[in-house]
Formats: sequence, C-alpha cells, structure tokens
Amino acid sequence: MDKPLTIPDIMAAKGQRKLTMLTAYDYPTALLVDRCGIDMILVGDSLAMVVLGHKDTLAVTMDQMIHHTKAVTSAVKRAVVIGDMPFMSYQASVEQAVLNAGRFLKEGGAQAIKLEGGAQVIPQIKAIVNAGIPVQGHLGLTPQSVAQLGGFKVQGKSAEAAKRLVDDAYALAEAGCFSIVLEAIPMEIAEIITEKCPVPTIGIGAGKHCDGQVLVFHDLVGLFDKFVPKFVKRYANISKEIESAIKNFKQEVENGEFPSEKHSFTIPKQELEKLKNG
Ligand code: KIV
Repeated sequence: MDKPLTIPDIMAAKGQRKLTMLTAYDYPTALLVDRCGIDMILVGDSLAMVVLGHKDTLAVTMDQMIHHTKAVTSAVKRAVVIGDMPFMSYQASVEQAVLNAGRFLKEGGAQAIKLEGGAQVIPQIKAIVNAGIPVQGHLGLTPQSVAQLGGFKVQGKSAEAAKRLVDDAYALAEAGCFSIVLEAIPMEIAEIITEKCPVPTIGIGAGKHCDGQVLVFHDLVGLFDKFVPKFVKRYANISKEIESAIKNFKQEVENGEFPSEKHSFTIPKQELEKLKNG
C-alpha cells in the first residue's frame, strides 16, 4: 500500500501532476475509492441530495455529516479525507466555525474541512487554519447559496463577476486554504485562477485547466439521475446493474430457484435420522 497522503503532498502536486477527488459517504464506497488511488475523498454535503433525498444541500446537519465522515475514515488508508462544513455550521460566527471544523477532525477522523464562499468567510478560514485545521475553499457555484444565486447556475460569466472570483481565489489562498474547489465557472476563468493562484484548484464544471478534478461519486457511477448537470461524465450506469440484480433475486425467489443447496446449510444425515425417529 502507498503511504498515506498528507496536505503538503496535495499542495506539492500543483504543476507536477493532476489531482483527483471524489465524494464518498459510507464505508464500502470509501474502500473502493481509496483502493483506486484517488487523492482526496470529500464527505460532501451533497450527502443531503444523493443519499438523504433532499432537494438541495441545506438541510444536512453537523451530526449527520460527522456520522458519515466516521464511516468514511474507517475505510480510508491513503487518501486525504475532507469533511464538508454544512449550511449554518460556519456562517453565523467565527467561534462556531472553529468548533464545528474541529468536530470533523476530533470526532470524524478527517484531515481537513471544506467550506463555501469568498471574501465573506475569510475571518472563519483564518481562525480555522490558526487552530491547525487545513481548509479547502469552494468558489463559483456554491450550492449552499442556491437561494441567493437563483438556482444551480454557472457563475462568473461577466468580466465583473469573473474578477470577483479571481480576487476571492487570491484571498482564500492568502488566508491559508490548501486548495480551492472551483464549481461551474467558465474554463477560461478557471485557467486564469489556476495560473495565478499558488494552491491547487480542483474543478467541477470548471474545465480542463484546473490542477485537479472532483465529481460526486453517485454521478460518476450513474447512481443518481434526478438531476444531471452538464459537467457530469458518467463512467458507469450502476443503477441498471442494481435493478437487474434486484429483479433477478425477486424472480428466483418467486420461482423457487433461490436459495439452492449451494446457498443452504445441512445437518449430518445420522443427526437428521435421530431427529426424525424421535
Ligand atoms: O458536496 C459536494 O459534493 C461538493 C462537491 C460538488 C465539490 O461540494
């Protein structure tokens, strides 16, 4: 097994090799993702949508995030595990932000946290980093602000909005973020940020120039089809496989094919005789 990755390893990868990040929310998925050599595993607040069935990410709580982070860190041996700070766990005060970030490391076993936002969350980022907790930033389409953004829309399309994104990326790196997720922004803007920003950029719907790429696991394997953004590439259609397995099970139980002797236990013949003879 490769030795466990560290935050300095992730930072040192900039300009050297492309980084990979995937979400995971449970033990078996995290085992698979880690086994495949993915660099970072994000216990994303997308948990709310792809696992818990909410319409957006807002409803997920700190306790739910910690619960799933524990399951993921139980499985992971190599990747850096990042806990995603849920809505209202860091916005209200710097003190709450530090305490909640600490829970991801202390209770969840994660190595780092991620939070959304630009200039408005710099005080929180500085305080969390000062507490010794690595922070990943998140700019562009920040799903926790979906109401303010008016939906899940591409960000940074005007020169003014793009300039704000570039300034925010600088500010996040300066505040101590070890990397920055860029979500749903034009590829040209992601390229400018990636060139100018000293820390790795991890893109999702931000084009090929980012230092790394992230996808939601359920999107990648085709396990969530309620909403499929343009930037998602499906590498499998696992829902179909699962449906076919379930249908086969149902049919085989109904027609008596399952369980066969192969899947059953037997008692020694003489014991059975004794039983039958009273
Ligand atoms: O919660 C999540 O899955 C995320 C990724 C889309 C980056 O924030």
